[in-house]
Amino acid sequence: MKVQNNISLKEFNSFKIDAKADLFINIATINDIIGILESGLLEEKKYFILGGGSNVLFASDYNGLIINMGIKGMHIMESNDDYIVLEIGAGEDWHNFVKTCVKSQYYGIENLALIPGKVGSAPVQNIGAYGMEQQDCFVSLKAVNLKTKEFMELSKDECRFGYRNSIFKNDLKDNVLITSVRYQLSRLKEFNFSYKELEQEIQKFPVKEIDLQYVFDTVCRLRTSKLPNPDLIGSAGSFFKNPVISDENLENLKSEFPDIKYYKSDSGKWKISAGWLIEKCGWKGKRFGDAGVYENHALVLVNYGNAKGSDILSLAMKIQDSVFERFGIKIEPEVVIVQ
Ligand code: EPU
Repeated sequence: MKVQNNISLKEFNSFKIDAKADLFINIATINDIIGILESGLLEEKKYFILGGGSNVLFASDYNGLIINMGIKGMHIMESNDDYIVLEIGAGEDWHNFVKTCVKSQYYGIENLALIPGKVGSAPVQNIGAYGMEQQDCFVSLKAVNLKTKEFMELSKDECRFGYRNSIFKNDLKDNVLITSVRYQLSRLKEFNFSYKELEQEIQKFPVKEIDLQYVFDTVCRLRTSKLPNPDLIGSAGSFFKNPVISDENLENLKSEFPDIKYYKSDSGKWKISAGWLIEKCGWKGKRFGDAGVYENHALVLVNYGNAKGSDILSLAMKIQDSVFERFGIKIEPEVVIVQ
């Protein structure tokens, strides 16, 4: 186990914020975990578990220990004519995992292509896109509670998944290091085109037969057209969650703003498009120094180069205030703000 000092986090977060960490450790094996549990560091220092760094904003330098998840590996746990269960190391890249499934003709997570981050982060915020969430294929995960030092296995029910939510953002917040995740993928050809925009994109270029590669390519094309290329512009995808409101609130808003964009949410309530709210407040494409609101999607805040975490955070707060002033809706960050 090697603890490093005064490390720049720029390459470890997709916002590309050049914050420094006092201490940094990469966890590549279970022995590294045992090392850190026995080191006493967890009792001495504050710590933060970093997955792919694709959903965090380092608002300042981090005066503590960054634990970087680097456990790799992909293993077949069960396989039959209908489905396959895979166990994936938490440090594997999510998009590589999706690509591997597509190549192997395993169906079920193709709509989640190109989501940046690592496999271990996927359950934390229950990543989702194009009518699908990782919970749809999730079986269980293995983890270590860094507070109690207990190794554990959690089932799908125990993870309490919700919209961009799970037990890891609530009761087990900040203390659980996920080491591997099991997903069940189907061997039978079945797709989810419930997201209207995906269905329209699929129909746009008719092919003889809609296959897994075609769906994967379509999702990648759709995502690339709206979201910044992570190699060129720093961002953390959607900065805010789409707010969920009641029937009554929706009716009131609709009478004042007839073109408001909304969708039915699982809980029988309504999900309002935060991108639309932010765009209506005039933020889309705005830039202040190197911090800005992406020109193709108002829900995405971007770092054009040398923005500080605090620049992005103050822009986010201004956006939050202006949406509240205009619509009476408080939009909440999806991104985890670390300081
Ligand atoms: N819209 C606008 N203006 C904008 C952006 C969006 O009016 O600037 C409206 C449009 O009507 C558009 C609708 O919002 O049709 C929905 O936009 P989009 O399909 O991009 O979806 P979203 O609700 O903004 C969510 C996820 C994304 C995910 C997409 C596709 C959240 C917070 N975000 O965005 O996830 O890729 O759906 O399923 O739920 C992420 O979590 O980081 C992320 C990128």
